[in-house]
Amino acid sequence: MKNNKLFVWVGVLLILGLASCEYEVIQPETVAPADSTKVYSFASDIMPMLKNLGCANCHPSAGGFDLSDAKAYESVKSKVTVATPETSAFYTKITGTTPHAGKILSTQNKADLLEWIKQGAKE
Ligand code: HEC
Repeated sequence: MKNNKLFVWVGVLLILGLASCEYEVIQPETVAPADSTKVYSFASDIMPMLKNLGCANCHPSAGGFDLSDAKAYESVKSKVTVATPETSAFYTKITGTTPHAGKILSTQNKADLLEWIKQGAKE
C-alpha cells in the first residue's frame, strides 16, 4: 500500500514538472527583403554601413584595403563582381564566408549590400 502512494506522488510530481516546462518557439530571423524599387548608392547606403561598423579603424591599411572616405568607393568597387554578387570578395569577406578579422554584417545589411551590387555597385 505504501508503495502505491509513493508511485502516485512520483507521478504527480512528474506531471507538474513537465507542465512547468516552457517551450520557446524559435522564429526564423525576419529580414525585410531589399527594396528593389529603391536605387541604392554607395554614398547613401553602403558607406554609412561601413562607418557604423568602424571598418576604417583597421582599413586605412589592413590587408592593403583602404576604406577611408576618399578611397572607400574605389577600394570596394575593385572587390565587387556585379555579374555574380554573392561571389564578390567584398561580400564574402564581410559576411563571414571567408575568414576575416573584422566584424560581420547583419542579415539586413547583407540584403541591402547584395541589392546594391546587383544594381551595378553605383557610386
Ligand atoms: C579588427 C580590424 C578589422 C576591422 C574592424 C575590419 N577589417 Fe577587414 N580586414 C582586416 C585584416 C587584418 C584584413 C587582411 C587579412 C584578411 O584578409 O582577413 C582584412 C581584409 C579585408 C578585406 C579583403 C581585402 C582584400 O584585398 O581581399 C575586405 C574586403 C575587408 N577586410 C572588408 C572590411 C569591411 C567592409 C569592414 C567593416 C565591416 C572591415 N573589413 C573591418 C581587419 C579588419
